[in-house]
Amino acid sequence: MPDNFERIQVTPVAAALGAEISGVNLAQMDDETFAEIKEAFGRYSVIFFHDQEITPDQHVAFAERWSDININRFFKPLDTHPMIAQVIKEPDQKDNIGGGWHTDHSYDQIPSLGSILYACEVPAMGGDTHFASMYKAYEALSPGMQETLEGLQAWHSSRHNYGYVNVDLESRKDGRIGNPELATQDALHPVVITHPDTGRKALYVNDSFTVRFDGWTQKESQPLLNYLYDHGVQPEFTCRFQWQKGSVAMWDNRATWHYATNDYAGQRRVMHRITLEGVALSA
Ligand code: SIN
Repeated sequence: MPDNFERIQVTPVAAALGAEISGVNLAQMDDETFAEIKEAFGRYSVIFFHDQEITPDQHVAFAERWSDININRFFKPLDTHPMIAQVIKEPDQKDNIGGGWHTDHSYDQIPSLGSILYACEVPAMGGDTHFASMYKAYEALSPGMQETLEGLQAWHSSRHNYGYVNVDLESRKDGRIGNPELATQDALHPVVITHPDTGRKALYVNDSFTVRFDGWTQKESQPLLNYLYDHGVQPEFTCRFQWQKGSVAMWDNRATWHYATNDYAGQRRVMHRITLEGVALSA
């Protein structure tokens, strides 16, 4: 694919998805530069930037170029900026946030477009984030499986992760996760979506929030869901991002899963996340 970018440098990091973008200051850019970033986002599904110094206001301003902000109901927000969720792990904490393959906010009726994560403090080693392409996962399925999945919808829920069920969760007890009373909104989405911007088909279930296929019991659904969860994280469909202080990753929640690696015990990791409003998903 020709690299026809004029204002930014785009370096793919893996065959399946992911590209690093340089030559950009996210705190301030013109519309032409933003248009190229948007083009790269559509092409690579997750884009990475290094050496950014953005204030919370600048983080919000960059996010608002894409869409409205979808305020996370469960993560502890910044006191000064309720639209910025804190993704924190302190040296004495064991559980991290996002340490299972998922896509953000699939439990919302209108799922999120994407998320923009800014690294404020990172461990000396570890804490990488993995991403998987749900375009590639869908495309690698047999025609028979594709046809079966295209006829299905699935229920997604926040209850089992963020609701009263999970009261013993460390991050609940230490206040990183809250508002269990708001974990009530289940949502039905097609299992295979047509991406609203790229027109490509993508698998849209995930291990953290999908509960069952519509019209199927959970017991009936789980074996096929487990097959898809294993299938979706084959190394060929993934990339891995190593953070530095000042790095930013922006991923497409309709086309990717991500997984935050929890391998930095005794060290602190502090990230600021903004999640963007999307549109209703269709098959
Ligand atoms: C998340 O799941 O949104 C957090 C990812 C990360 O901290 O790497």
